Amino acid sequence: MTSLSGAQANLRNLFPRIRASETAYLDSAATTHKPESVITAMQRAAVEGYAPVHRGLYAEAESASSAYEAVREQCGNLLRFKPQEIVFTRSATESINAVAQSFLTPQLNPGDWVWVSELEHHANYLPWQRACQASGAELRVLKINYETGAASAEQIEELADSRTRMLAITGQSNVVGVMPQLEPLIQVAHAVGAAVLVDAAQCLTHQASELARLDADFIVFSGHKVFGPTGIGVLAARYHHLEQMEPWLVGGGMVDWVGEGAAKSEWSDIPARFEAGSPNYIGVIGLGAALDFVQKLPEREVAEHLLRIGSYAHHTLSQLPNIRMLTPASAAATGVISFIHERIHPHDLGQVCADHAVAVRAGHHCAQPLMASLDIPACLRASCSIYTSRADINRLMQALEHAERLFL
Ligand code: ALA
Repeated sequence: MTSLSGAQANLRNLFPRIRASETAYLDSAATTHKPESVITAMQRAAVEGYAPVHRGLYAEAESASSAYEAVREQCGNLLRFKPQEIVFTRSATESINAVAQSFLTPQLNPGDWVWVSELEHHANYLPWQRACQASGAELRVLKINYETGAASAEQIEELADSRTRMLAITGQSNVVGVMPQLEPLIQVAHAVGAAVLVDAAQCLTHQASELARLDADFIVFSGHKVFGPTGIGVLAARYHHLEQMEPWLVGGGMVDWVGEGAAKSEWSDIPARFEAGSPNYIGVIGLGAALDFVQKLPEREVAEHLLRIGSYAHHTLSQLPNIRMLTPASAAATGVISFIHERIHPHDLGQVCADHAVAVRAGHHCAQPLMASLDIPACLRASCSIYTSRADINRLMQALEHAERLFL
């Protein structure tokens, strides 16, 4: 793989689409572009490596199965879970739904408490809301201090209530970049016997070692936000929890013996019982290549780049008239920079950006509860990655200045 230790141009050069495109791509919190190594690995998997997984004894099928299982091991090593504690899903969303339905719902009772934070993406809010609706439990929301990432002492005290059954919390807001301080919350939740799920969709690339050190029960993420393909997600779950869970999908490849008529069937071992249907072989191989790519990135340099580019974006945007920053300066190093214009609607700004070939996201970002707590309907988000350049940010500034001239 090309070394990343050279100039920033080298980073961009690893991404064919970024290299070739005229668009200033500032939508990496939505999905990241893919480096050459991932594209090549997926192409190889689709051509010379292609075969069914866990369904054949011939050489190609055996080697596809081994390659698939090697990525499971890689995910486990990355997050410090055992390989059998890694389940491949379609997305972080599916992973969270699976935990809400198969782990939490069967043990929830009226009066129990399930906690999320105000920062959650709908994917880490709706599954818990549904579990509460089905059982009469209460969904409670932790407020997080934007500057420090901490929850208030009063709320931590409430979290420590014996009614708490589950805490589901993001590692990083997809809108304001804020990273909650997870460790104290996990300790408190565990002390009252609650389980903890961390939604790592936005932070795996730059927080993998911190996530691995956490004693979380469940960690979820998706491939397409870590330079990998869409359609592949990971659920890392402690084995004793998986033992309690019924498969959320049933079908081929997950059953040892099928009961006749209404007789009970016997599921395969963990984790196979949670991967019904033909596995997403190409997706898993792409994910493995993406994680390889992330693990080979020089950690310090990546963090420094994100800090430089995020701070530059935050600083320059905050100098523009009528702009209210939503991402605090302390979260600029995540590269996720959200803001509103006091007089121009985010969708109008988003359109002007699009007309200037600047790719940003406008809207509620699948975080309506957060929009409600900020008392805004929508905002504009510019999100950076390792391939983002100052020129991309400058293009955004030009588009915003043009919007001012156009609308005001
Ligand atoms: N969750 C993605 C985003 O934040 C799609 O844009």
